[in-house]
Amino acid sequence: MAKVIVQHVCSECGTTTGRWLGKCPGCGAFGSLVEELSGQATPAQKRGGVARTPARLADVRSEEASRISSGVPELDRVLGGGIVPASLVLVGGEPGVGKSTLLLAALGNVSRAGRRALLVTGEESVAQVKLRADRLGGAEKVEILAETELEFVCATLEQERPAVCVIDSVQTLWSQEVGSAPGSVSQVREAASRLLRVAKESGIAIFLIGHVTKDGAVAGPRVLEHLVDCVLQFEGDRYNAHRILRAVKNRFGRANELGVFEMTGAGLVGVPDPSEVFGRTHGGEVGAAVTCTLEGTRPLLLEIQALVAPTDLAMPRRVGTGVDPKRLAMIVAVLSRHAGLPLGGADVFVNVAGGVRIDEPGADLGIALAIASAAKGVPVREGLAAFAEIGLTGRLRPATQTDRRVEECRKFGCETVLGPGAETLRRALASALAESPS
Ligand SMILES: Nc1ncnc2c1ncn2[C@@H]1O[C@H](COP(=O)(O)OP(=O)(O)OP(=O)(O)O)[C@@H](O)[C@H]1O
Ligand SMILES: [Mg+2]
Repeated sequence: MAKVIVQHVCSECGTTTGRWLGKCPGCGAFGSLVEELSGQATPAQKRGGVARTPARLADVRSEEASRISSGVPELDRVLGGGIVPASLVLVGGEPGVGKSTLLLAALGNVSRAGRRALLVTGEESVAQVKLRADRLGGAEKVEILAETELEFVCATLEQERPAVCVIDSVQTLWSQEVGSAPGSVSQVREAASRLLRVAKESGIAIFLIGHVTKDGAVAGPRVLEHLVDCVLQFEGDRYNAHRILRAVKNRFGRANELGVFEMTGAGLVGVPDPSEVFGRTHGGEVGAAVTCTLEGTRPLLLEIQALVAPTDLAMPRRVGTGVDPKRLAMIVAVLSRHAGLPLGGADVFVNVAGGVRIDEPGADLGIALAIASAAKGVPVREGLAAFAEIGLTGRLRPATQTDRRVEECRKFGCETVLGPGAETLRRALASALAESPS
């Protein structure tokens, strides 16, 4: 019989230690370590193995053609063209960002298209869900189950076999077989692996709603990201009407694909042309530049704003909202070293419009342009958009899929596109900034 070992597991990040500690050595959270027993043989391990016959790939029936439309075009786009049957999708996001709203709307659409749609709610009461459904409208045929015990949920799914099921949220599920509290790493991991099996065996598309930690990672279960087929992250803050849904991982489509929504009283409404919303600038404004990023398959115009302010701090601040801090520090250093822009005595703040987070290096030139404009007090030429990757030598590297970006810039009225032909950062800045200070 396997030896039972007592371990302490962090419920935030999953780090395990041999003894209890007040502070997690992995993520630094306080009081998050909980005791767990490991090494016990699971019922599956106790059963003996039987040899199976492998199948040939040519004989496997492809499910690609049978994607189910969620009826929310932006969600379908992020999923790679619709919901894949027998898949497990994790949807993470900050509290109140709109996870339940989006998925209830999707369930409503699926049910109206004649398929069974089930919502398993552990977080809200049936009456609360009903209130939201009345507000959104069109969710009358959605079936609902208020249950948190994993065994009952799995048994119900196997018996009822809906086409799509949403679990709100995975952290509320608990199994009797796991000896720790609901929401702990081992409970969440067990719930996800059991539901994965149910999804694959019964052909149900299951969406797991997950909470995120202070750092924005899906709470505790980083382990879950390996288990599930897709990880969708809801970004944008509660105070901003625009929300961004991003595919962090997708086994059935491109990762990093973006969907943009606006939160309204009637639920989340897709924004089909986000460049129109995020790429708008006010002509002649100092410290603002337009860039074109490519997230997944979608080119997106974004306004970048920068502020350069003198400081007495020994270590000037470089603060970026929506920009990777390391990337920002690198751009500031290249501007100082290769473009003759002394920023050593100044704080630099950079902000990306609409709460969008930029992940790709193609936006470097736009960020540099906004900073240079703010530092020199000179606005960027009107109708100019810039995109290119900045190298450490001050040379510009062309961004990927230039043609598609240029097309997007032209579509939204940017006559001058800087980047594809430019060679060095210094030359690009000289041609982008208007000569006379405003
Ligand atoms: N009547 C309303 N009019 C406009 N917006 C509303 C209304 N009611 C709720 N909202 C919006 O819906 C958001 C809550 O959405 P939802 O409950 O789907 O979020 P969630 O991500 O599921 O949150 P949690 O993690 O707490 O479950 C609120 O932040 C608010 O912006
Ligand atoms: Mg919710």
